[in-house]
Formats: sequence, C-alpha cells, structure tokens
Amino acid sequence: MNVAIIGTGYVGLTTGVCLAYIGHSVLCLDTDLSKIEALQAGKIPIYEPHLEDLLAEAQRNLRFTTSYSEAIPDADVVFIAVGTPPTASGSPNLEYLSQAAQSIGEHLAGEFTVIVNKSTVPIGSGNWVGAIVRRALEQRQGRKANGAFGIASNPEFLREGVAIGDSLYPDRIVIGSDEERALEILYTLYRPVLDQTFPAPVFVPRPEDKGAVPLVSTDLASAELIKYAANAFLALKISFINEIGQLAERVGADIREVARGIGLDSRIGSRFLSAGIGWGGSCFGKDTAALVATASEYGLKMPIVEAAREVNCRQRDHVIEKLLQELKILKGRTIALLGLAFKPNTDDLRESPAVEIAQKLMVRGARVKAHDPIAMDRFQREHCHLGVELCPTVEATVEECDAVVLVTEWTEYREVDWEALAPAMRSPVILDGRLILDGDKLSRAGFRYIGIN
Ligand code: UGA
Repeated sequence: MNVAIIGTGYVGLTTGVCLAYIGHSVLCLDTDLSKIEALQAGKIPIYEPHLEDLLAEAQRNLRFTTSYSEAIPDADVVFIAVGTPPTASGSPNLEYLSQAAQSIGEHLAGEFTVIVNKSTVPIGSGNWVGAIVRRALEQRQGRKANGAFGIASNPEFLREGVAIGDSLYPDRIVIGSDEERALEILYTLYRPVLDQTFPAPVFVPRPEDKGAVPLVSTDLASAELIKYAANAFLALKISFINEIGQLAERVGADIREVARGIGLDSRIGSRFLSAGIGWGGSCFGKDTAALVATASEYGLKMPIVEAAREVNCRQRDHVIEKLLQELKILKGRTIALLGLAFKPNTDDLRESPAVEIAQKLMVRGARVKAHDPIAMDRFQREHCHLGVELCPTVEATVEECDAVVLVTEWTEYREVDWEALAPAMRSPVILDGRLILDGDKLSRAGFRYIGIN
C-alpha cells in the first residue's frame, strides 16, 4: 500500500519506518528541511535504539520529502503524526494538526484515501480534521467531495526507548472510524503485524510467546478515548504505588515488596508499579491534563485523574524535603543528579523530573552537577540557562558533592562502584529516586541510603 506520514517525530518516524519494514511503500513528510535532509542521508534526528538500523533495512520502501504534492495524491493512507504540544491551559495546541489537515485537503487526488489521526488528539478531533480536509478539497475542486476520503483514528501505544518493539509486537492495535471502508483498508495495512507474518529484525527479535495481535476495530470517538484512558490509567497506576509508598515509609514497609505482592495478582498486573520520583515525559502529563480539560467541557470532573496528577507533583517535592531533612540547609550545598532524561534509553527531556528537581534545588541556593549517558547534549541545547554543571562521568559528577540523587534508572547507574566513589564525596548520602540500588549494601559501605517512596 502507499502510505504518507505527516510529521517525523517519535511517533511518525517510528510508524513510517516500521510500515516500510513490513512491506508498504512509505513517504514521510516534514516541513523541517534539515530534518528531511538528515533522514535522506540515513540519519535519525532522535535517540531511539535500533531505529537507524531498521531504517537501513527498510530503505528500499522509504522516502522522505517536504512536499505535500509529492506525498498526498498517490497515498492510500495518510497518517497525521504532527506534534500537539500543551498550551498554558492544559489543552493541546492543534495548530500543526489543522495545518496538516488543510494541506492534505489541498492535495488529495486518489479515488479513496484514509486519513488517520495518529497524534494524540482531543476527542472529537477526527470530525474536526474531516471538516477541514473537506473544505479545502471542495474549495480546490469547486464541487462536493463526497466519498473521496474517510477519517480514522489509530492511537499508538509505543514507549520511547522501546518504540520498535512496541510497534512491531504490540499488545493490540486499535482502529476507529465511522466508515467501514476506512476500517477495511487499515485492517489490510496492519495485517502483517496482526498475524505476525513479517520476518523479525535480528536486533529486535520477536518475543518467544508472541501470538496473533488482537484488533480493536471500533468507532472514531471510542478509539480517541481509548488512547487517553490508557495513558491516564498507566499514570494513575504509578501514582497509586507512589501514594502507597508514602504510607509504606511511615509504617516501615518495603514498597518494592508491596508492589511485587500486589502485582502478582493477575487482575492488577506487575507492570507500571515501580515507585519513585514519578512519571515524566511528554505524554502522561499532557494527556491527563487534556482528559480533565475535555471532561470539564462536558461539565464533568475527573477526581481520580486529578489526584494522580497531584500525587505525581508531590513526589518531586518529596526529593527536596528528604534532602532538607538530611542536610538541613541546601544553600551552598552541592547536589549531584544522575540521569537527566525522563526515562532510560531516550534523550527526551520533556517534563523530565531532573529538570524540575534541578530548578527547585537552585532556587534554594544549591549548586547542581549532573550526568546522563545520552541526554547531556540535548540538555545543553535546551536548558543551558538553568546553570546546571554537566560532568562527563559519574565520578566527576559526585566529586565534592553533599548528596547524590539517582533520578533516571540507566543500567550503568546500577553498576557503579559506590565504595570506590565515597572518598571523593563531601558526605556519602544517596537518594535513590528509582529504588534500584541495594540499600543494605550501600549502608554497610558507610553510605546514608534513602529511598524515595
Ligand atoms: C507512554 C505510554 O507508556 C505509551 O503506551 C504511550 O504510547 C506514550 O506514553 C504516548 O502517549 O506517546 P512513554 O511516555 O514513552 O510512554 O514512557 P513510559 O515508559 O510510559 O514512562 C513514562 C514515565 O513513567 C517515565 O518517567 C517513567 O520513568 C515513569 N514510570 C514508568 C514510573 O515512574 N514507574 C513505572 O512503573 C513505570
């Protein structure tokens, strides 16, 4: 099938590369010329494990362009995967989405094209995109545009850092449309993934127990709501374990044991129950805010989702409270942050807990040093105004510091030889924000080990 993808961010690029890999002819469009030139040269503008390898394998089916007139007329399916960044009010900015819809309408020429919202868009956006496309198309051709296109929603559930695996071996695929023909075309498009008939790439092998992928084929509004409900549920699962963590600390319980004990109940499930500093990233914060905003348009409150957001903010403050308890005064202290990205295996700093914690520490007069295996270049570009001192190694970061805060659970931080580093620190205090270190071992080595829960 001929596929056009508008927007080459995490979602658009991963979707484009994966669809090309399973055999479709894909044209990715972005209005940013420098990005397109880099992609044409085989370079990926984001850090995502194995995306560049898969791009190399899928190259024969994949092209990049800045031109709508090249991308749209021949496409059977057009995915809109543009950014929908949050506005000050919490609702997403739909400017890029509306521009994309307008340009699609101006260039549609096929017999029937499915236009798919892949970006996380507010409920009702499908209808809105449809209206913009229709108006632009009718204006261009000077007559009614009946039956020229169908609108669908196909939310993505990929996580940064493991985006290829999540796309090729998903738990489910959700497609939503009010037009049967659009659903049939999307079913055909995804058939190789649904039936798992494509050869797995060697660098992201198929999980051994992977069977056929369930398809949820539904109406437009349900598909749009599924995306928000999924992200809100995952966010509240994390906030729930963090709330229980606060009580665990008071009563002397180990939250990791509690999480294991409840997660083994298959009705609850063990994933997304890791307590700690809380969730960051571009999705959970934005999507929970948008869900609350949408509900309020209908006169509804979402107290559970709001509470999940509140608990998440509290986790960040908790770091500062713990440091204050330990060090009494933060002015003039040096604090080392290990990890800047919002999670391991990405260089994404959007809504990263590290940025917020650094700001809170500096407001209180502390000096902040930091390290990240991948995200330091990006931090330098996006947050150099904060005045955080970036260090090339963990050793250099912890040198002369009063406390270390482990913010992101990169594998290499699990393997640090803390005993060897202790003499270089001013005081051996470790705040384990992700509960991944061996507290007993560190205590025996003379550290003051504090878990954030
Ligand atoms: C999330 C969802 O997991 C994806 O399904 C969804 O497609 C994506 O948002 C999106 O809407 O685009 P992502 O933000 O990439 O994916 O990352 P997650 O792995 O979900 O982690 C989000 C945050 O939660 C991270 O800061 C992570 O450290 C934190 N987290 C995760 C916890 O604090 N505890 C956990 O148990 C799990």
